Amino acid sequence: NVPKIKFNNGEEIPAVGLGTWQSSADDVKNAVEHALKEGYRHIDCAWGYGNEQHVGEGIRASGVPRSEIFITSKLWSTWHSRVEEALDQTLANLGTDYLDLYLIHWPVPLNPKGNHPAFPLLPDGKRDVDHSWHLKDTWKQMEAVLKKGKVKSIGVSNFSKMKLEEILPSAEIVPAVDQLELHVYNPQHELVKYLKSKGITPQAYSPLGSTKSTLLTDADVVEIANKHNLQPADVLLGYLLAKEMVVLPKSVTPSRITSNLSGAIRALETLTKADVERLDGLAAAGKQNRFITPPWPIELGFDNWPKL
Ligand code: A2P
Repeated sequence: NVPKIKFNNGEEIPAVGLGTWQSSADDVKNAVEHALKEGYRHIDCAWGYGNEQHVGEGIRASGVPRSEIFITSKLWSTWHSRVEEALDQTLANLGTDYLDLYLIHWPVPLNPKGNHPAFPLLPDGKRDVDHSWHLKDTWKQMEAVLKKGKVKSIGVSNFSKMKLEEILPSAEIVPAVDQLELHVYNPQHELVKYLKSKGITPQAYSPLGSTKSTLLTDADVVEIANKHNLQPADVLLGYLLAKEMVVLPKSVTPSRITSNLSGAIRALETLTKADVERLDGLAAAGKQNRFITPPWPIELGFDNWPKL
């Protein structure tokens, strides 16, 4: 009974998925196994998280058939010119022969022959960005692996309007999703409106504000939670679900994994229009904050990535 959201290509995604960024290899296997046993049917992964093999182990340990699980992974930045090769590694890591969704992790191609597998550096210590590579060519390769049947849907992550406009004019397939840092302190109303106008589903990463979050103790969030006998985390997740976004709460704590799913659904059923409007206004009322710092300079064109 997890709500689903329909993509622009007709595929459906369970609206609550387990996030796996910053989950250690040791923890993530148990987290994934627990989540699937508790009713999650959607796991969000990435090559760049370095733990895909352990996610795969958790999936197999759960006993839940592959066909019932929605699996997302992401193309790391050093692989923009070698999409199929990167995807094959991810498929082997996860122990599956297809993905439900494959995303370009960041709109930043890095030197594929760089001096570090994840973050190649220039002699002056700056990230070795491959300025000669065009994102529209990455997207062409994403379209090719979709046509080959290796992935069911393709999308992007951390793309601003400006970055999407680098790929949309020549795209045969419109991205199914844009995965972004989205929560009550960073609702990105304008970008979300733009995505919806293009039929692109917003997916919320760090919906609870990640590890240094002040969202769970926010006075408005706590008040709304108390009023409805919900936990603050439930309110934060239910708010995003009410706005028809996919939420990807990360946890390696079994009790939280369980309550994040059931609580999010309960909050979706409970929050009033007035609650949602109140939460919609928090950032504009001065509580705007991002908790994630992008691993490259903001000058690269993150027009929706305000400096804090
Ligand atoms: P842990 O994994 O140790 O349980 P986000 O999804 O926004 O990235 O947030 C993830 C962070 O929030 C992690 O540190 C996670 O800790 C913690 N977390 C996840 N669910 C809850 C919850 N229901 N209540 C409090 N903290 C939570």
